[in-house]
Amino acid sequence: MTNNPTIQELSHEDRSFPPPADFAAAANAQAVEYEKAAADRIGYWEEQAQRISWETPFDTVLDWSDRPFAKWFVGGRLNAAYNCVDRHVENGLGDRVAYYFEGESGDTRTITYSDLLREVSKAANALTELGVKTGDRVAIYMPMIPETVFAMLACARLGAPHTVIFGGFSASAIADRVKDCGVEFVITADGGYRKGKLSALKSVVDEAMEDCPEVRNVLVVRRTGQDVDWNDDRDLWWHEVVDRQPEIHTPEAFDSEHPLYIMYSSGTTGKPKGIMHTTGGYLVGTSFTHWAVFDIKPDKDVFWTAADIGWVTGHSYIVYGPLANGATSVLYEGTPDTPHRGRWWEIVQKYKVSILYCAPTAIRSFMKWGRDIPAQYDLSSLRLLGSVGEPINPEAWMWYREHIGGNRCPVVDTWWQTENGSILISPLPGVTETKPGSAMRPLPGIVADVFDDEGNSVEPGNGGYLVVKEPWPSMLRTLWGDEERFKKTYWSQYPEVYFAGDGAKIDRDGDFWVLGRVDDVLNVSGHRMSTAEIESALVAHPKVAEAAVVGAKDEMTGQAIEAFVILRESADDGGDDVVNDLRSHVRSSIGPIATPRSIMIVPDLPKTRSGKIMRRLLKDVAENREVGDVTTLADSSVMDLIQKGMKES
Ligand code: WTA
Repeated sequence: MTNNPTIQELSHEDRSFPPPADFAAAANAQAVEYEKAAADRIGYWEEQAQRISWETPFDTVLDWSDRPFAKWFVGGRLNAAYNCVDRHVENGLGDRVAYYFEGESGDTRTITYSDLLREVSKAANALTELGVKTGDRVAIYMPMIPETVFAMLACARLGAPHTVIFGGFSASAIADRVKDCGVEFVITADGGYRKGKLSALKSVVDEAMEDCPEVRNVLVVRRTGQDVDWNDDRDLWWHEVVDRQPEIHTPEAFDSEHPLYIMYSSGTTGKPKGIMHTTGGYLVGTSFTHWAVFDIKPDKDVFWTAADIGWVTGHSYIVYGPLANGATSVLYEGTPDTPHRGRWWEIVQKYKVSILYCAPTAIRSFMKWGRDIPAQYDLSSLRLLGSVGEPINPEAWMWYREHIGGNRCPVVDTWWQTENGSILISPLPGVTETKPGSAMRPLPGIVADVFDDEGNSVEPGNGGYLVVKEPWPSMLRTLWGDEERFKKTYWSQYPEVYFAGDGAKIDRDGDFWVLGRVDDVLNVSGHRMSTAEIESALVAHPKVAEAAVVGAKDEMTGQAIEAFVILRESADDGGDDVVNDLRSHVRSSIGPIATPRSIMIVPDLPKTRSGKIMRRLLKDVAENREVGDVTTLADSSVMDLIQKGMKES
């Protein structure tokens, strides 16, 4: 890792925003949390574990003797669904709204905690009738509807780990996952609504099942009423089986380390990794962070994570964290621009959403569409904004703060991964003076650092690899069926230290700047730079809506910077002047070293369905190779357009 002073300046940021005094005074988490955790980390987690209800108390907080296989809250027994549902009803909160469901086309459902208890109990009884037992894996391939939550919690109630497969995945992706973790029971829907059209789900499952003879039943929710093929030996309608079940179901307590779910995530090789989370630690991690980072006041707030339940963000901050805390959430089926580009803000206004959590890619779309759209809605209910999933460009952060948060709401940039289970690095909104683009500090109880190649902590101002030096409750326990890959991927770079695969920098104040995946870090003439830093500079230009940067092989400099840029709608021309303008803009805002070798104006960028830019494909274009596998793209025609533009220019 470089110690080059020019690079040290790259993440310099003069703007900072202290928490508003009234927010700070009423905040859940005060500065003392850091002190308590630093004085006694294990004791701190023991205290956080009291947020949830244990049928049998644990006797040991952490057993770290069989490294890297951690056990948390050893000896404790609990049921995750009981914690998320029953106990709130027992505590007299049955009438509190758990979800305001908003369908894409405007259909709505309000689900209280009592409703949730009834629906989850019926679903658990149905699964039992159909032979699902503790330990069986259940695959869930659903749209963003309440039954998805009912299905997950019904599994949790029975101790049957769910594996939710994002509703945009293909039949072969479903089959791979089903086979990898030995699923025999699948829950799906006929289809869903997406961008004003019907999307098919059941037919995709049917295709996947051709390759999965071991699946004995597919339980199908009727969402759209579209025609579906039916296999009488295998398929069952949810409403026929679940609706007639008794409304009472007694949950059983499971060991703290009983698997709660498996979530597949792509790694550096082709085969997805089955990231396994267990019950006690995961629930403690999600409940604690939802309290500390989102400052949740369950009797007042309306919380909205605008993400899909098919990703970890949805698992932790639509389902388990908010429900464990007895909060009220919005569950939205659709996309931000259907039927119009003000849809999100209409929802914020309608439900008086007070906390919004979303991804930078969405924020950049809103920037592109212009500030006038959110300005048409009453967003005064918002009091806190969060960001997750990728580095947030300082300009996007500033736009979010100003045009969505009215310069009044703290912005928390939260760093974590599917593997982490819950947020690890983030401001505490009532304590931390935030800087646009920085995730700031590890949360209380989290010991993160930035290492150089030799495993030494870098000096402030320098960059290296993001690591976590001590185990944390919601950490992944293993990769399903592949302990060797678990050890190799996360624990082999440095002994007994978790390697996150992200590059990061610690600035002179000790604040963390996550620069993106290590393979997104560029090396130009021996200078390390992140794609994110150059992208942020480009996005800061008034004509730019979105930018992606990749490193392409260059004989002289090792790597050269290639930029792909979407212009704002107000910037009408895509000619040479804009390109020259942008090149000198990057040169002047970062330095000559960061000047892109070429800048290509493109109509769109290749993104996965979770919104991550697939730089690998852009790199193929930049290096003049045949473009690789595009099957995980949300819209695979994007690459054709980009390549066509490349040939014409
Ligand atoms: C990236 C999503 C910068 C990072 C919860 C990480 C971020 C990967 C941030 C995990 C952030 C997530 N700033 N980068 N605030 N949050 N990332 O598993 O590269 O889908 O390794 O989990 O997203 O993505 P995953």
